[in-house]
Amino acid sequence: MPGEKVTLSVIKADVGGFVGHSAMHPHLPKRARAILAEEKKDGKVADYCVTHCGDDLELILTHRNGEGDEGIHRLAWEVFRSVAETARELALYGAGQDLLKAEFGGSLDGMGPGVAEISFIERKSEPVLVFMADKARRGVWNLPLYKVFADPFNTPGLVIDNYMHEGFEFEILDTQAGKSVRMRTPEESYDLLALAGFSSRFIVKSISKRDGTPAAVSSVSQLSKIAGRYVGHEDPALVVRAQAGLPSVGEILEGFSFPHLVEGWMRGSHIGPLMPVSVAHSTPTRFDGPPRVICLGFQLADGKLSEPRDMFDDISFDTARKAASEAADYIRRHGPFEPHRLADEKMEYSTLPGIISKLAPRMY
Ligand code: 13P
Ligand code: 13P
Ligand code: MG
Ligand code: MG
Repeated sequence: MPGEKVTLSVIKADVGGFVGHSAMHPHLPKRARAILAEEKKDGKVADYCVTHCGDDLELILTHRNGEGDEGIHRLAWEVFRSVAETARELALYGAGQDLLKAEFGGSLDGMGPGVAEISFIERKSEPVLVFMADKARRGVWNLPLYKVFADPFNTPGLVIDNYMHEGFEFEILDTQAGKSVRMRTPEESYDLLALAGFSSRFIVKSISKRDGTPAAVSSVSQLSKIAGRYVGHEDPALVVRAQAGLPSVGEILEGFSFPHLVEGWMRGSHIGPLMPVSVAHSTPTRFDGPPRVICLGFQLADGKLSEPRDMFDDISFDTARKAASEAADYIRRHGPFEPHRLADEKMEYSTLPGIISKLAPRMY
C-alpha cells in the first residue's frame, strides 16, 4: 500500500567460495533464488534480488515487517543454511564460513551474516543504491560517505540544492566502547572527521536528514560482539537512497571514483585500494584482491524492486579501476612490511606470539 513503510533488508554471508575465496559458484545464487521465489509466492517477502560480491552471497529483500524482524532474519538464515549445504556438496571453499552458530536465536545479530536495513515511506520515485564490498573490513564506507554527504567538492547539491543545504546527521558507532553518537554536518565536520578518519574503530552506521528522513545505513551493529570480536562486519554492505533532497545517483557514485585504501585483502590482514567494479568483475583474484565494491541500483515501486542496474558497469569508472591496479602494484612491493601488512593486533592471523616465545630464551 502506498503510504505504508517499506523495509529494504540487505543480508549477506560468505557460505562458500569458488575457487578459494575468489568468486561465487553459480549454483549458490540459483539455490537462493529458488527458495526466495517460494517465499515471495507465500507473501513472506514483497520482492527479492540475489547477487554476489566476490565470495559473498547478497540477499536484497523488501517487505513490510520493519527492521530487525525475526521472520525476515530467520528466512535469510534458512536460505544461507540451505545454500551452505549446496556449497558442502560441491566441496566449495570455506562452506558455511559465516554461519557461526548452529541454531537461529531470533536475530542475525552476532550470528555471522551482515545486515543493513532501512525503512521509509516510498517517495513518488524511490531510487536506491546498494553497495556491497568483498575483501574489505568494516570501516570501508566512512570515506565515501563523508564525501557524498558532507563534502561539497564531491556533492555540489550541498551548496546548490535548497533541500540539502542544511546538511545531514551522521550516526557513528564506537566499536571499542560499544556506544554510538549522532553528529551534524557541516557544523561538526572536524569533530566528525576526527572519529570517521579512525575508520578501524569508528564506523558510520547511518545517515539521516535533519528531519529524521533515513538516507543511508551500513551493515554494522552494536550487538554483534562475540568473544571480544565483532562478527558480520567484514565485507560489509551499504544502502543509500538518492535524489530529491538527498544526494543524486551521480553524486553518490562519485564518492567511489577514488579507490581509497582499505583494510582487508589477503587473509583480511592487508591494506589495499577499493576497486569499483561490475558484478561480473567482482572476482578478487590478484593476491585475493584487490578489494572490490559493486553497486546495484533499483527504482522501488510499491515495495517491489525493479530490475537491478549494475551501476559500476560503466566506462567512466575505468580510470578508477586503473588507479586501483596501479596502487595495488605499488603497495604490493612492500611484501610482508607495514603498512601494506596491518599492524599485528589487527591481523586475522598472527605467528608473532609463538615466534616471540620461541625466541624468549635467546633474548637479552
Ligand atoms: P533532476 O532535476 O532530474 O532531479 O536531476 C538533477 C540531478 O539530480 C542530476 O544529478
Ligand atoms: P573472505 O573474507 O572474502 O572470505 O576472504 C578471506 C581471505 O582470507 C582472503 O584472502
Ligand atoms: Mg571467503
Ligand atoms: Mg568475502
